[in-house]
Amino acid sequence: MEISPRTVATIVTVISFAVFLGVVSADPDLLQDVCVADLASEVKVNGFPCKETFDGTDFFFDELANPGLTNNTYGSLVTAANVEKIPGLNTLGVSLSRIDYAPDGLNPPHTHPRATEIVFVLYGKLHVGFITSKNVLIAKTIKAGDIFVFPRGLVHFQKNVQHAPAAVIAAFNSQLPGTQGIATALFAAKPTVPDNVLAQAFQIDAGLVEVIKSGFGPKC
Ligand SMILES: *[C@@H]1O[C@H](CO)[C@@H](O)[C@H](O)[C@H]1NC(C)=O
Repeated sequence: MEISPRTVATIVTVISFAVFLGVVSADPDLLQDVCVADLASEVKVNGFPCKETFDGTDFFFDELANPGLTNNTYGSLVTAANVEKIPGLNTLGVSLSRIDYAPDGLNPPHTHPRATEIVFVLYGKLHVGFITSKNVLIAKTIKAGDIFVFPRGLVHFQKNVQHAPAAVIAAFNSQLPGTQGIATALFAAKPTVPDNVLAQAFQIDAGLVEVIKSGFGPKC
């Protein structure tokens, strides 16, 4: 059978669209108006089961209004406004965070397994970046009013480059993006990742691995 160029074009279009859908899909789509999370339920599902009754408070949160306390090891604090704080977000596929930075503070390299992140700078100046799966650093210095995007799953960071506080609002295409800190995942996991694994991975001796691990105490 002869396949016309037109048929080929149609097939290519359909395949491209299917691939595109597969690549951009984040949280699953909702099947009803709302499914306000019953956070106390014992039932385990993908997300949370729906509550019988709900009201405006289930769709409300006012804790991003003020700066969070940044007097910690890294000099930064993420205040999440996700489904765990706003039950009404269950199945809606979005959430926000506010991130505050002490002078020179750092939000250390981490990933969000379930969401792309887009930040809007409220005030201050930050050097931000992400690393592609080809190990290319994509970075920029951003200031009040600027936006920067961290693609889903890629390692990224934000460093306050001024000796003054900074803050951003971050939006995510997931009700619960998840956060995995690179240093803490490797050096502060419980049970611990074996020293010989880390020594070989980082090409350092086990003594140095212990030194790095000892830096991750309860103070974080
Ligand atoms: C951070 O500051 C708050 C309020 O000033 C204080 O209660 C808290 O103990 C401080 N935390 C650390 C880790 O210093």
